[in-house]
Amino acid sequence: MASDTSATLWKNLRVVPAGWTAGIPELQDMRVQEGRIRWMGSAGTAPTGPAGEDTRDAHGAVVTPGLIDCHTHLVFGGHRAAEFAQRLAGASYEEISRAGGGIVSSVRATRAQSEDELFIQAVRRLDALRAEGVTAVEIKSGYGLNLEAERKMLRVARRLGVARPITVRTTFLGAHALPPEYAGRPDDYIDQVCQVMLPALHDEGLVDAVDVFCERIGFTLAQSERVFQAAVDCGLPVKMHAEQLSLMGGAALAARYKALSADHLEYLDEAGVVALRDAGTVAVLLPGAYYFLRETQLPPVDLLRRHGVPIALATDSNPGTSPNTSLLMVLNMACTLFRMTVGEALDAVTVHAAKALGCPQVTGRLQVGDRADFVIWDVDDPAELAYWIGLPRCREVVWQGAASGAVTGPRHS
Ligand code: NIG
Ligand code: FE
Repeated sequence: MASDTSATLWKNLRVVPAGWTAGIPELQDMRVQEGRIRWMGSAGTAPTGPAGEDTRDAHGAVVTPGLIDCHTHLVFGGHRAAEFAQRLAGASYEEISRAGGGIVSSVRATRAQSEDELFIQAVRRLDALRAEGVTAVEIKSGYGLNLEAERKMLRVARRLGVARPITVRTTFLGAHALPPEYAGRPDDYIDQVCQVMLPALHDEGLVDAVDVFCERIGFTLAQSERVFQAAVDCGLPVKMHAEQLSLMGGAALAARYKALSADHLEYLDEAGVVALRDAGTVAVLLPGAYYFLRETQLPPVDLLRRHGVPIALATDSNPGTSPNTSLLMVLNMACTLFRMTVGEALDAVTVHAAKALGCPQVTGRLQVGDRADFVIWDVDDPAELAYWIGLPRCREVVWQGAASGAVTGPRHS
């Protein structure tokens, strides 16, 4: 969808600012032209706009920046409901993975599907995110684990960003798991990732960032560093699945590479927190995976807070640990499970998520000069965004100045 080139004066918005803690924001008007915010101020005080300007009245609705889901695995084949049942019967995520299930079972399903088949499944999930106000999303590869299948996933991710009014950033996660054909030869696979897959996919313009799963069932610190080095050689920023199931020191490594983000972090220690702070790396917490794995180790939210590390939240939408397409549910989980405040949670899916996304166009704020990505909500108090469970609250989503109309539920292509 092209950006709107005509001007619109949006009236009577209660814009929730970054750093909001409580209370009902004042009424403001906002002029949008060519996809950007040109003017903002108290309601009724806008200077005269260009001839033919359109006017829209939000009648005092709460407005936030478009929500940003900065960590998803939205493209994959099939599902893993049978593994969910196995886990309910007592098997652990790691046991299932070591027995040849887990990520590798989604790899089999993803390799078997065509680009069109993967697109049809992923666009439903994307539409579910959009229906709750998401205007920018990160999508990882990592269920292909060979050049052809990783390319297929990343091409689907790019197509999603063309098919829908949403910003898509792609992340190459070739080092997500060891593919079966490399069993016992993880270093050879990392050679393939670094020397063949990443350079080729980067040349094709399919990669915006590079991620690694640094874990006992993923890759070692040394292997992760090789992937980071290859990313640096391509001029790409990095991020990491770090300290999810154990303390590996991955977050400190990510910090050394000035990573955009270190994600999961349940087992992160204080030294890692300080390293993230010093590097300006965002801590991305993923309560959906914490919940779905019935994890009991809480991420060190208080340490992150005390050291001033920006905290983002994301769905981690994936078939194994977070089959979740509701970022609003993640807000609720972050408050109930991680004891974050509603204000922290809102910053975590806007301004801090923008930093983790690493896309200069997406700021997660609504200020003059910013891109006009915003959401008009059917709530009276911003705290309701983290409070209701399941109630549709999204009245309208605006991306680059253009309203996508009322979004009432997932729409199909
Ligand atoms: O973010 N931790 C690794 N990757 C995903 C899980 C992937 C899967 O189980 O399919 C995660 O939790
Ligand atoms: Fe993930």
